[in-house]
Amino acid sequence: MSVADLPKIELHLHHEGAAPPAFIKQLAHEKNADLSKVFAADGGYAFENFVHFLSVYEAASSVLTGPEEFARLTTAILEESAANGVVYTESFISPDFCGGGDVGAWREYLAAIQEAADAAEAKHGITLRGVVTAVRHFGVEKSKASSLCAAETAGGFITGFGMGGDEGQFTQGDFSYAFAQAKEAGLQLTTHAGEFGGPESVWDAIRDLNVERIGHGVRAIEDPALIKELVARQITLEVCPGSNVVLGLFPDFASHPIQRLRDQGVKVTVSTDDPPFFHTTMRREYEELAKAFGWDASDFAELNQTALDAAFCDADTRAKVAKRLEHA
Ligand code: ADE
Ligand code: ZN
Repeated sequence: MSVADLPKIELHLHHEGAAPPAFIKQLAHEKNADLSKVFAADGGYAFENFVHFLSVYEAASSVLTGPEEFARLTTAILEESAANGVVYTESFISPDFCGGGDVGAWREYLAAIQEAADAAEAKHGITLRGVVTAVRHFGVEKSKASSLCAAETAGGFITGFGMGGDEGQFTQGDFSYAFAQAKEAGLQLTTHAGEFGGPESVWDAIRDLNVERIGHGVRAIEDPALIKELVARQITLEVCPGSNVVLGLFPDFASHPIQRLRDQGVKVTVSTDDPPFFHTTMRREYEELAKAFGWDASDFAELNQTALDAAFCDADTRAKVAKRLEHA
């Protein structure tokens, strides 16, 4: 059996960023929207660098105009994840793309997403939980509206609050109100840091936002004191190696610091981030890690246990997912 056949847990997946290009093309066709600049000649998404990626991502998301589109998207995402052996996944869902920060509209989007997720669970044995996500470059006021949406719908399906977007804008601390509001509602916290921001952005995330997990965080490798801090606080990194390679952080998997972080005791997990944008899947991440670092089934079992421990879900869900890992 190939390691790619193992069951998997994925903690870092952007809902809109997981939309297959054919799915977005079909919606563009239905809505008569011109998205020609979004796609490359090979049919994939076309972007030149990180900031351009973010704008192509937003252009593609513009055809996801209502709860029905998000329900269809959820079905497509979970079919693809289940085909990759994923048994539990957390996706970043943003009120900015789901009702524009209005709590009533957000509830409708969420109901549609949840209904599709329940159907996918019954059909494929995959569980989805939602991490409500602010988009950093949309600014501080929008982050407050997003965390209010998160707080109003916290519990059950919505288990966490996080932030993605352009690390070059604002500081982590500028968003402390949003994160405190989400925490107060009982949500667990994560933020993108140490991807395009250096180690100092990870320090800021720990100090100013009090997060339990970090999205990416891989540039912690540049700062030994930060590595010690991550280990001491038992902070889990949501590492997305294929995404980092395509966005040019590291030239290839073999140069990626995931192994060195792990060797130093940092808790690492593996995810795809925005799989069709980065021409990756969970199967491919496993295959490339096995090739680059010689990881075998026991390494991946440890990886999944770390992810299960760090998952933002309740005890019953954790126990159910643990059984899926055992029985595979
Ligand atoms: N939004 C979607 N993917 C992202 C990434 N890799 N970094 C920051 N924001 C994102
Ligand atoms: Zn991400």
